[in-house]
Amino acid sequence: VAAEKGEYRHFMQKEIHEQVRSLTDTLAGRVDFDDGIIHLPQLNLTPELARRIKRICITACGTAAHAGMVGKYLIERLARIPVEVDIASEFRYRDPIVDEDTVVLAISQSGETADTLAAMDEGRRKGATLWAIVNVIGSQAMRIADGYIAMQAGPEIGVASTKAFTAPLVDLYMLAILLGDLRGVLSQRDRKRLVADLRLIPDLVSRCLDREPEVLQVARELRYIRNILYLGRGINMPIAYEGALKLKEISYIHAEAYPAGEMKHGPIALIDRDMPVLAIAPKDPWYEKMISQIEQAKARGGSVIAVATEGDDRLPELCDHIFWVPETPWLLSPVITVIPLQLFAYHIAALRGLDVDQPRNLAKSVTVE
Ligand code: G6P
Repeated sequence: VAAEKGEYRHFMQKEIHEQVRSLTDTLAGRVDFDDGIIHLPQLNLTPELARRIKRICITACGTAAHAGMVGKYLIERLARIPVEVDIASEFRYRDPIVDEDTVVLAISQSGETADTLAAMDEGRRKGATLWAIVNVIGSQAMRIADGYIAMQAGPEIGVASTKAFTAPLVDLYMLAILLGDLRGVLSQRDRKRLVADLRLIPDLVSRCLDREPEVLQVARELRYIRNILYLGRGINMPIAYEGALKLKEISYIHAEAYPAGEMKHGPIALIDRDMPVLAIAPKDPWYEKMISQIEQAKARGGSVIAVATEGDDRLPELCDHIFWVPETPWLLSPVITVIPLQLFAYHIAALRGLDVDQPRNLAKSVTVE
């Protein structure tokens, strides 16, 4: 097994670095850059179905559910279809309002998570169309779906999911463009620009990975923290949840995530010298809002680490540490902003000498309820 890790100490680190390749593979064969067209043939999405869909219910667990939260933004924005995101263990028992014009879209790395499969069964019983975005070929979720997108992440071994998070983000972006196009809500010009932006992704991820030594340095300084609050807004709000989940899964540090605008309704009471804040604040439409939230955290004595866009000259003055990310078209920014957070969680856990690939109490796939 050691040999398979190559130059890396842990599978998780190797898998973080594999994202340049997995995202290149995600685009291969699906994106026609010349004509600005997306092909997802295994989804079995006909123009008739695209026009008929009234709602999409995304259902998933864990990291996959965080990808689904980003998917809600993408599909609502680009295809104007109402999207709900539901944790599968909730969806399955809630008697959800689902009919023949609903798509139940499951996201699952393994395609074998018991709650996610049960949520799909619930959708089936109510007559919905079932789609799945799955990594494991031939898995149960793939078999019972009416259509699927196969993630091109390759086998993922680390229990903390990384490359099987960014692959579905790009899949959901492609799906949103396709739906928007088939429903006639995306102009040809917008579609071509959105498709062209995809070409940037592998290189942008690679540039984030080049900054690993800087993230390691911050991890060294913060390795003994006991609590941390992750804040994000808009399309990067789910990245706060995913960043916090990565840290708690493998480092056992208490990490909480909040939509930044909710800070004033409670969590701000927690902020003091011992409660650092990790703010995801790239140059997206919520940037100014994030700045004011960071100012409020600083005013209460908290130390702030920000994920910031290269060239930003305001955040370095306000913050104690910066994780730099390259400028990215904002609808794709979650693919990029999550990379330093994966590296940060990884290095904190590795510095603490923990079993990064096999964290206590966790399983790679949860096939019982
Ligand atoms: C487990 C894993 C997580 C994963 C979740 C959903 O809890 O530890 O990393 O996100 O299951 O798994 P799935 O295979 O359905 O994506």
